[in-house]
Amino acid sequence: MSDDSAFEQDQQQKSDKKNWSGRFNEPVSELVERYTASINFDQRLAEYDIQGSLAHAKMLAAQGIISNEDLTAIEQGLHQIRNEILNHQFIWSQQLEDVHLNIEKRLTVLIGDAGKRLHTGRSRNDQVATDIRLFLRASIDNIINLIKAMLQALVNLAQQHIHTVMPGFTHLQVAQPISFAHHLMAYFEMLKRDIERLIDCRKRVNQLPLGAAALAGTSYPINRELVAQILGFEGVCKNSLDAVSDRDFAIEFCACAAVIMTHLSRMSEEFILWMNPLFGFIQLADRFCTGSSIMPQKKNPDVPELVRGKTGRINGHLVALLTLMKAQPLAYNKDNQEDKEPLFDTVDTLTDTLRIYTDMLAGIQVNQEAMRQAALQGYATATDLADYLVKKGIPFRDAHEVVAKTVQFAEQQGCDLNDLELSELQQFSSHIEPDIFANLTLEGSMESRKHTGGTASHQVQTAINEAKQWLC
Ligand code: ARG
Repeated sequence: MSDDSAFEQDQQQKSDKKNWSGRFNEPVSELVERYTASINFDQRLAEYDIQGSLAHAKMLAAQGIISNEDLTAIEQGLHQIRNEILNHQFIWSQQLEDVHLNIEKRLTVLIGDAGKRLHTGRSRNDQVATDIRLFLRASIDNIINLIKAMLQALVNLAQQHIHTVMPGFTHLQVAQPISFAHHLMAYFEMLKRDIERLIDCRKRVNQLPLGAAALAGTSYPINRELVAQILGFEGVCKNSLDAVSDRDFAIEFCACAAVIMTHLSRMSEEFILWMNPLFGFIQLADRFCTGSSIMPQKKNPDVPELVRGKTGRINGHLVALLTLMKAQPLAYNKDNQEDKEPLFDTVDTLTDTLRIYTDMLAGIQVNQEAMRQAALQGYATATDLADYLVKKGIPFRDAHEVVAKTVQFAEQQGCDLNDLELSELQQFSSHIEPDIFANLTLEGSMESRKHTGGTASHQVQTAINEAKQWLC
């Protein structure tokens, strides 16, 4: 856009002020103007606003509500506006409050009366609801792809560690030996459910509000199904009041996002622990860590810590939207303008987090020896001794008691169960025979859990194969 036309646009916008100003005796103060404007953040919806307007205009022409000449002018004008925005030449005006009025005013400057006819049978209320749904639909599709990429990195890492033994924990105490791959694949299950949740949420996002107009519908002979078809919506919102007022679809998305971040936060917590030299299970690549300005020995896992921290922020956005909605009478209220910033920040934070996580997983270095040593230290095969006795006919509760005493003895000796002599073990039960030792090794314990969902290498490989198939 030339300087001249930018000046022209600015002047025109200033002189026109707001569309409804004919009824008002005094302009709003600068403070009120700033307070009520959303242009600083909702200009992000411009592309979706233009798509919605193009579809609406096409329908108006198809229904004979506007002429084909008007439609052509509107299409040309909107394409020009799209280019101006993409080239950062569009001048956004706070006086024009929001993205919808800014674009409409510019259209009128460019094409005259045809621009003023675009808003026939429409209100900003159904317009903004449409824009957000289009934005969210695109965001969901992008986020699903990002989760899939992250899961691919997770599965690649798991594939290398089917035989890497680590302690499985309960109460953060060593419990039973598991493979590192099995541990990682637990997160695959969580994030797979997250994708399923997003796919389900998308169905409810992907419904068209346009046609609801301000709240009650419109007296023009519109065709909502045609607009839905042009914009790729699966259906139309069935009640005009509901269409313009509820934001449950955004709340639902934020709830999905909060669950995803919760899963990533749990994984982050583990990475932070495992990075600690007391565990020493993994190293994150240096690009995800920082040093200390005072303690040269430190390598801090900043990225996982921030993922854990940002989960609080995402939970906050969910609560913000729930609170925004909870006392609103039907139908549209200006409160709803406050839906955008939490929603946008949720999308942005989640997008960045997923991208960074994919890269971080690909750069993890595993210290297999540290994992193995940790598994050897916590009597992780005690349950296997109990199970062995049960298989010899001893009731589980009695076997539990025998093992408790055996572990106490091993603790006093300062060794693992596996290191005890057969005769020492037999002090606690005469049912113990030489075949016990195969059961007390870490590998023996792991491989014995060979049912669906267990940590035996064959089962974990099956889970990984299914995961790979699911991802492609
Ligand atoms: N900027 C407004 C929003 O985000 C658009 C709808 C305004 N509608 C109205 N009746 N004031 O919600």
